[in-house]
Amino acid sequence: MTTAPTFRLEASPAARTVLRVENLGKIYGGLVALRDVDLSVRAGTIHGLLGENGAGKSTLVGIMSGQRKPTSGTIYLDEKPLAHVDVQAMEKAGVFLVTQEPMIIDHLSAAENLMLGIWPKRRFGFVNWRKLRQDAERMLKGTGIAADARAGALDAVARRKINILRAMFSGGKVIILDEPTAALTVDDRAQLFDFMRRLKSEGVTFIFISHFNDEILEICDAVSVLRDGRYAGGSEDVGSLTSEDLSELVLGRGLVLFEREKRQFSAGAPAVILKDIRSGTLDVPSLAIRAGEIVGVTGLPGGGGKELARALFGLQRASSGTITFVDGEARTLPAHPAEAFADGIAYLSDDRRKDGSISQMSIAENISLSAEVALARGAFMNAEQERALSQRYFQSLGIKAPNSEVAVDTLSGGNQQKVCLGRVLATKPKLLMLDEPTRGIDVGVKQDVLRIVDELSRTGVSVIIISTDTDELVRAVDRVLIFHNGRIREELAGEAISRSRLRNLG
Ligand SMILES: Nc1ncnc2c1ncn2[C@@H]1O[C@H](COP(=O)(O)OP(=O)(O)OP(=O)(O)O)[C@@H](O)[C@H]1O
Ligand SMILES: [Mg+2]
Repeated sequence: MTTAPTFRLEASPAARTVLRVENLGKIYGGLVALRDVDLSVRAGTIHGLLGENGAGKSTLVGIMSGQRKPTSGTIYLDEKPLAHVDVQAMEKAGVFLVTQEPMIIDHLSAAENLMLGIWPKRRFGFVNWRKLRQDAERMLKGTGIAADARAGALDAVARRKINILRAMFSGGKVIILDEPTAALTVDDRAQLFDFMRRLKSEGVTFIFISHFNDEILEICDAVSVLRDGRYAGGSEDVGSLTSEDLSELVLGRGLVLFEREKRQFSAGAPAVILKDIRSGTLDVPSLAIRAGEIVGVTGLPGGGGKELARALFGLQRASSGTITFVDGEARTLPAHPAEAFADGIAYLSDDRRKDGSISQMSIAENISLSAEVALARGAFMNAEQERALSQRYFQSLGIKAPNSEVAVDTLSGGNQQKVCLGRVLATKPKLLMLDEPTRGIDVGVKQDVLRIVDELSRTGVSVIIISTDTDELVRAVDRVLIFHNGRIREELAGEAISRSRLRNLG
């Protein structure tokens, strides 16, 4: 018998509740982030947590794991109210949080980073370090990360993986994953889900935050949705829900998916011509992009797509290569991002902590800063122009904050991503390169971002989108380049850009 989706979380008498919050509230300054949230998580289940950017997901799991203090409310572990909640107490009780931004100790090796979760717990007990190390090395095998690699030298994806593996390795009984899959490849994701299923069969409980409905449907048993800091509904039976049900719960309305009107670019004259781009293993003899064309770039990590963008933006040394814009002469690749900006090349990094400037600077300052660097070729902006510019992106990207003077590091993860995007868009580039532009962005805003990039392309900007998001590639780009071992292995256009083709890149 099938039942209609119930959007009310019913406590099932059969399963024990392992973690529960009651009347939970959180106020940051004057901002109410959580209001009267009641939520229970049953032992041995994978519990999805959904909601728009800024809905309060990270705040909620931050409180559950002792990293943030609630303003009001009670946390129950195994139905016992907790009097004192901090990170140490919660980790001791077996509750681990993997945060949205990787927490990695740069000077330690990959294997040592995995073992970090074990250290404080068993400092005074007996630890078989040799065996532990062997276990860590075994766990890293097949992830493409060398056990003795210095963590600081690893790329964003590898750092995320280490963060996740550490929680798996910690022996926790409740593991909370805050957007763990952002920018993982299809293979990585499958591997993570396998891990989760295996640990679940051993009785581990997961709380899993994701903006991808298909992931929630695939891996979760139950789901809860937050909307504007309140509990907006949920289900103990995810199997009875559809992706549309989830979007509606999250947004409070239906979702209209953006679909780019695909255009034929083979006829037009190229606007950007790249020649002999070599950097490390990267080897691109020739690539032309037309004005207004959106080129998707994908492949396995290290395949070359990201390396190409970083070389073009002056973040990675190139041993050879020229870039020619239609209205100019061939020039060597920029040696530095400031030079790239001045040439009309902009890049949104996928590692906003490392390369972007997520800081205590305000949203407005963040948005106008790069624009000023870019405009330094010509004019300077006065304060009024600066304000108008940042206000425009603040509004068009729907950044959720009281105003644009708010410090960026108080924003939710998805809203920080929007600020970074605003920064590069504001430079008015000729070639715009976006590395995972919708990572961490909710389903609704994702459509807005794709629409904004689409509109920008219609003004003649050439765009490269580096993405592991199959759905985004299928809906938003004109042509896809699949990179492998530093080279363009395959090019797909029009109807050939299919989900099934992009799912199997190995
Ligand atoms: N340290 C802080 N100081 C002030 N406000 C904060 C702070 N941390 C979070 N907030 C605010 O609390 C609200 C909820 O943020 P939270 O990070 O919990 O959202 P989220 O659901 O995790 O969103 P996302 O999907 O973007 O990660 C947001 O409006 C955010 O700006
Ligand atoms: Mg968050």
